[in-house]
Amino acid sequence: MKLLAGVDIGGTKCAVSLGNAVDGGVELRAKRKFPTPSAPEETIRCLSGALDELLAEQSSAASLAGIGISCGGPLDSRRGVVLSPPNLPGWQEVDVVTPFRKRYGVPAALQNDANACALAEWQWGAGQGLDNMIFLTFGTGMGAGLIFDGRLYSGANDMAGEIGHVRVAEQGPGGYGKTGSFEGFCSGGGMAHLAQLEALKRLQRGERPPLCSSLDRLASLDARTVGEAARHGDELALAVMRQTGEMLGAGLALLVDLLNPQLIVIGSIYGRQQTLLEPYALAKLKAEAHPRSWAACRIVPAFFGEQIGDYASLSVAQYTSAGKPLTA
Ligand code: BGC
Ligand code: NA
Repeated sequence: MKLLAGVDIGGTKCAVSLGNAVDGGVELRAKRKFPTPSAPEETIRCLSGALDELLAEQSSAASLAGIGISCGGPLDSRRGVVLSPPNLPGWQEVDVVTPFRKRYGVPAALQNDANACALAEWQWGAGQGLDNMIFLTFGTGMGAGLIFDGRLYSGANDMAGEIGHVRVAEQGPGGYGKTGSFEGFCSGGGMAHLAQLEALKRLQRGERPPLCSSLDRLASLDARTVGEAARHGDELALAVMRQTGEMLGAGLALLVDLLNPQLIVIGSIYGRQQTLLEPYALAKLKAEAHPRSWAACRIVPAFFGEQIGDYASLSVAQYTSAGKPLTA
């Protein structure tokens, strides 16, 4: 049996998965995950250690056919080099492909994480059979993967879909050191930052919000805490959800007006907080985008849910093992 290996390098966690091709998709066989170490060399060492372990558990009749690596950009997919992703501080020009190619002697390729997610959802998930669709990560970072006319579109130098960098407001938290950027509102770190700004505003008015009753609690606010509190009706948390939801809608409107996709699939945080975010996001989308464009576009959470990262890197592995180019 031919095995595919998926390597997912995230800002928060790393994962290695093994799969095998089945009719119409890939079956996930086994997986390991761990928090991303800070140094790139150590990260690569841990990833190949995890892959060794997974391979050792497989029957001897199974052999590895390809490795797909997905990571946040900016990166150079042709050279297999991760450049300097905002969510991987300390990474500068790291060749992640050569170590895997050398160690395992099989084809290996690097792809932007959002692009890889788009490929997985398009081939096997919510976007099957469509020609034009977009995937939005909405996790530690915000990036887009673009499928146009039945091909992945990655732009002049792998920078297509860097929508987290786009400024959507004058004020507000920033990703990439850019105030008011889309990633500043729509990402885990962005939501934590928004919650801190909201808490500060209330504390300065002399209020004592239950979620953050004093200044020294500000640092404890994260996206997960905010999400849970919002589900229980916490007012501060709901204010964050409203801002994030509206900004998500603004970003969606931009994509819908510019690219006229049939489908936009949204990952991570949207899957967990859809009930709270969707009404704000859709209201904003409908207020901003051309009605003919939004009426043609469905917005859904990832079909693969919390496992999207695994299927994403496996889909890169599948292309690579088949010797197929990923991009247009
Ligand atoms: C990066 C993108 C990436 C996204 C999700 C952003 O900060 O610039 O390349 O797709 O995070 O990880
Ligand atoms: Na992208």
